[in-house]
Amino acid sequence: MPFTIAIDGPAASGKGTIARALAQRFGFLHLDTGLLYRAVGAMGGDPVAAARALTPEDLLRPGLRSAEAGQAASRVAAIPEVRAVLVDFQRRFAVQEPGAVLDGRDIGTVICPGAQLKLYVVARDETRAARRAAELGVDPTEMLAQLRERDARDADRATAPLRAAPDAVVLDTTALTIDEAVARAVALVEDRLSAQPAP
Ligand code: CDP
Repeated sequence: MPFTIAIDGPAASGKGTIARALAQRFGFLHLDTGLLYRAVGAMGGDPVAAARALTPEDLLRPGLRSAEAGQAASRVAAIPEVRAVLVDFQRRFAVQEPGAVLDGRDIGTVICPGAQLKLYVVARDETRAARRAAELGVDPTEMLAQLRERDARDADRATAPLRAAPDAVVLDTTALTIDEAVARAVALVEDRLSAQPAP
């Protein structure tokens, strides 16, 4: 049975970095589901039609990592029909052998409620803003306001709000280096893998 790792959490908490590192370490596939919403937001026009027309090339569009693309993503991500269109693709991705890591907002709660490991990655608001501002070369104070606005929109929406699954392990990366955060996540995966029934 494929091993699925679901990683959720607020903006710039370290989800993506941990997800990429776990995928590399265990030879699993990785899907940054935020990129799907960023691409839909960037395509313009009717968001539901854009979600239906989404191709892998759309995920390579330049500028998808910008703060503006993040805001546009969280607006289209609040539309239930947009989310519904993207569910099947994500669920199919999640069950590929030998395993898959998906990071986003609703992976443990909606997309993969049966994932073998669910992580909910958090960090202090100011820490997240400083990290993302450094990444994008923008002002940290403005970034803090933007992240808070986006988190509030993501957490308050009616469909698939940002929330930890009841059985998620919370990982606070505020005081951790990347290596320390990854090491904790690796230990959790190893623990769950060793508890898996033999194939
Ligand atoms: O990297 P960062 O955490 O800043 O954002 P992201 O993961 O690229 O997600 C961008 C936006 O897409 C989020 O603010 C959410 O509104 C939306 N999103 C979502 O609704 N569900 C997901 N599974 C992933 C992203």
